[in-house]
Amino acid sequence: MRHRFHSICPYFATFPEAFVEKHLAASSLNGVVFDPFCGRGTAVFESLIQGRRGAGCDINPVAACIAGAKCDPPALPDLLERLSLLEKESIHYHSNASAGNLSEFFSLCFAPETYAQILFLRDSLNWQTDRTDRFVAALSLGALHGESHRSPNYFSNRMPRTISTNPAYSVRWWRENDYTAPVRDVFSILRNMSHYRFASEPPAFRGEIALTDARKAAERFPHLLGQITDVITSPPYLNTTSYREDQWLRLWFLGEDAENPIRDDGRHHSVKKYRAFLEESWAGVTPLLADEVRIVVRIGGRKLPKEEACEFLDSALKRATRRSVQIQDEGESSLVRNTQANSFLGSKPSPTVEHDFCFLLH
Ligand SMILES: C[S@@+](CC[C@H](N)C(=O)[O-])C[C@H]1O[C@@H](n2cnc3c(N)ncnc32)[C@H](O)[C@@H]1O
Repeated sequence: MRHRFHSICPYFATFPEAFVEKHLAASSLNGVVFDPFCGRGTAVFESLIQGRRGAGCDINPVAACIAGAKCDPPALPDLLERLSLLEKESIHYHSNASAGNLSEFFSLCFAPETYAQILFLRDSLNWQTDRTDRFVAALSLGALHGESHRSPNYFSNRMPRTISTNPAYSVRWWRENDYTAPVRDVFSILRNMSHYRFASEPPAFRGEIALTDARKAAERFPHLLGQITDVITSPPYLNTTSYREDQWLRLWFLGEDAENPIRDDGRHHSVKKYRAFLEESWAGVTPLLADEVRIVVRIGGRKLPKEEACEFLDSALKRATRRSVQIQDEGESSLVRNTQANSFLGSKPSPTVEHDFCFLLH
């Protein structure tokens, strides 16, 4: 059975577990597995399942929350006890939060009772510092929006589960179709989801996930200096998404201001900045690397030819690590037709491609 933690919440450009499994099996090394762009934590979590030590980081709070919850979960009884306590406290909660320009969106997205419980959780969960609260937050992120006419496990009016749609678009669509938000008891959904997810036994090893920039990975994991033998990762894709716009409602749940402009320094769209970013990221990870390292990278982008992708990675690795870099296996390339990123950007059939590479560093 597929481990039930894997799919706790959807995310962009996630690895299939089999990809990670294949590369772990191909490695004869036995140190820590690291993913500096861990997304929802597939590489780290699968490593733990396979009995390897694992760690990772991501700059996106949604990713860090989901990956952290999976890789370092609480015990089920603690989770259920925390949910009961939260439920009791929520009864006396009155929010002063203002939804500002988005009040119409929120009033159509959630029924008032459900919205009050969501606001309470948003205010109460210490998801960055407490592993039980982080698991509650991750379960909430997976249930926050979805096809609620098909499943009783979503809090919102009809929405895709994968991405949070644009607020103005959502309001128009709900109004035109007369769709109303269902009344949902957040706590009973979270309790049911807890039992469902824990039907799979958590792995014996715990992994460490940090909410941090890959460029600062070595500062964040000083206890792992020189210990990483396998990197399995997928950096942000070129010319697709910043991994934030599609997740705005989940980022709001984790405490961000929903009306924040998207921060983007251009590195996802300019080849020059993207290359510099890759090099800085490898430099941030280098102090953590053991003498011999296997680096598996799935890299993607719109109109990104394989040779170019290979050269980006090879030169960034050489310049950042100053080590001998050898391509071991050029792996596969595939065309990605229906990425979530493409659907968000409303593009025509997509030229987004993914390439897999494996490098050996000495
Ligand atoms: C292609 S996704 C990785 C998905 C992952 N392989 C999975 O299975 O979920 C790339 C990730 O890089 C993250 N990212 C972008 N810039 C970053 C940075 N400077 N440091 C760390 N992570 C970053 C994005 O937030 C995104 O989660």
